[in-house]
Amino acid sequence: MNEVYEFDWVKVADFDEMSSFAAKLYERQLLRKPDSVLGLATGASPVGFYEKLVERHAQGTFSFAQTHTFNLDEYIGLQPSHPTSFHNYMEEHLFTKVDLPVTSRHLPDGMADDLNEACLRYETLMRISGGIDMQLLGIGINGHIGFNEPYTSFRTRTHIVDLADSTRTVNAKYFPSKEAVPRQAITMGIETILEAEQIILLAFGEQKVEAVERLKSGVISEDFPASCLHRHPHVTVFFGK
Ligand code: F6R
Repeated sequence: MNEVYEFDWVKVADFDEMSSFAAKLYERQLLRKPDSVLGLATGASPVGFYEKLVERHAQGTFSFAQTHTFNLDEYIGLQPSHPTSFHNYMEEHLFTKVDLPVTSRHLPDGMADDLNEACLRYETLMRISGGIDMQLLGIGINGHIGFNEPYTSFRTRTHIVDLADSTRTVNAKYFPSKEAVPRQAITMGIETILEAEQIILLAFGEQKVEAVERLKSGVISEDFPASCLHRHPHVTVFFGK
């Protein structure tokens, strides 16, 4: 697993184009394999992607009836119904709009009494579902993927993380104040993410230019978590500004 792979770089004209291209890849995946296991992300980057996927689904050519989904991460201490929980984000952008069965939607349980056990349970669930076929990722300005902040070991599985101050600052826009942003989250680990068959990274906008440049350099280092993706043979990066 020491090989270094080049990404499939796709420069997009705008956010809309990125969203359409990514939605087409997921549609194609579901047409080819209706019982796919999909890895999903939240945040600003995939909002258009979910919109397009819902639109395409409404045309009736593919279904989520046999699909399972696993989200990358969830805050610790927010009820699923909390307006800024990732559970709530997924309800709003995808789950209530497609025919994905309730029992097939999975996110880490940030309200569990035993959080370590919740992490292990999530890993087991992914394994018995057959592993992720296609994983969607965004990228933090500090290079995080999921909530794997700089200096996270590339050997991590689903785990509890302390959020970087810069991540809490960026995400404060979704909360009444920065103080209200949870300090911890559960995230799939780097090793977990790298086990997906295929990875789609959305990196659009001025604020992502530096991170994209860093990825282009090809240097692999734990101080820039997304650089681990160069160890994966099937990564498509949609980028532009
Ligand atoms: C979201 C996630 C994060 C985001 C990243 C980029 O589930 O795991 O890694 O993908 O913070 O966020 P946006 O898209 O809001 O710039």
